[in-house]
Amino acid sequence: MFEHVPAYPGDPILSLNEDFQLDPRANKVNLSIGIYFDADGKLPMMDAVRKAEAALLEMRAPRPYLPMAGLADYRDAAQALIFGAGSEVRKANRVATLQTVGGSGALKVGADFLKRYFPASQVWISDPSWENHRVVFEGAGHTVNTYPYYDEQTGGLRFDEMLAAIDRLPAKSVVLLHACCHNPTGVDLSLAQWAALAPVLQRRELIAFVDMAYQGFGAGLTEDAACVGLLAEAGVALIVASSFSKNFSLYGERCGTLSVVCVSADEAGRVQGQLMSVIRANYSNPPTHGAKLVAGVLRDPTLQRQWEAELSVMRERILSMRHAMHAGLAGRVDEVLRARYLAQHGMFTYTGLTERQVETLRNDHGVYLLRSGRMCVAGLNEHNVSYVVSAIAEVAGA
Ligand code: LMR
Repeated sequence: MFEHVPAYPGDPILSLNEDFQLDPRANKVNLSIGIYFDADGKLPMMDAVRKAEAALLEMRAPRPYLPMAGLADYRDAAQALIFGAGSEVRKANRVATLQTVGGSGALKVGADFLKRYFPASQVWISDPSWENHRVVFEGAGHTVNTYPYYDEQTGGLRFDEMLAAIDRLPAKSVVLLHACCHNPTGVDLSLAQWAALAPVLQRRELIAFVDMAYQGFGAGLTEDAACVGLLAEAGVALIVASSFSKNFSLYGERCGTLSVVCVSADEAGRVQGQLMSVIRANYSNPPTHGAKLVAGVLRDPTLQRQWEAELSVMRERILSMRHAMHAGLAGRVDEVLRARYLAQHGMFTYTGLTERQVETLRNDHGVYLLRSGRMCVAGLNEHNVSYVVSAIAEVAGA
């Protein structure tokens, strides 16, 4: 019966991460998947989260189904973090926010919703974008196109071309944007560039679908979400997918949210209802544990402060690794390639290494990057950074 089912070629990120786990070499370094590892190369369990979990386990609470939209406290706390606690859209109850199964789940629920109510709309993602963006939207039946984004020559942004391309899109097109820490390039729009983009999205009646998976890993929690507030204030039709995988180090708990900004509370209520029906059709309702941990931290001012402090340490550590790469590679690789470690932001840097060089790095040195040359800087630490510098200098030396 299933003879015609072809073999799965694997996922460029998740399958590579599985290959890494199987690699027996002791000096291997995982710079492939977007996971933050601490200074000892360990996956951190944040203290604020640990405390929230201890309190939760103490309660021995029963586990009924959550509502289709998810845990109310979690939704509200996440919405405050994304849009600002006192934002106008929140005061006016104009945002429908639902708990989702991670950021990917948020994208899928949003993609299904858009397919249902905007069946003729096509989706536009940055060139390049996170590999799974295309997969999720195509999987929901959308046609996915790209807009210019990354400039391979400079390692920066082709903003004028991006803006011009978006300014030519048909009304109701969906434009997928990365709020911060662009995946895979680490190249973000400045606030001035967001301010220039907003009126174009608004005037051309486009739907901005903002993916925010790295809030707190760029410039800070508020700074990284600034574009969301800016687009909302400009009256852009706005959908936001967010994730707590990275900033709470809760990858396996699959904690995400999907928010749709509406023109009125009434509209938000109807949109919320239809999103609930999408969730019911996919997985009925989200899981409890991770959402309770996140809500437990964000609802307690002491734990929230502690979490923010821990997150700052993570952000600073990534930055120090960027500096270490930049300093270590001085005189050893082309200056244009070296400059990227400081010019790009967040977890990822687009190293400019070719597919061939990436393969040599993996085969000969046990250093894992994505085929595209994306490096997860958060996998570096004091113990492995000079090894990685030497390996890169060897494969890409000037
Ligand atoms: C990544 O880009 O590496 C992460 O977002 C993990 C994933 O699911 O791809």
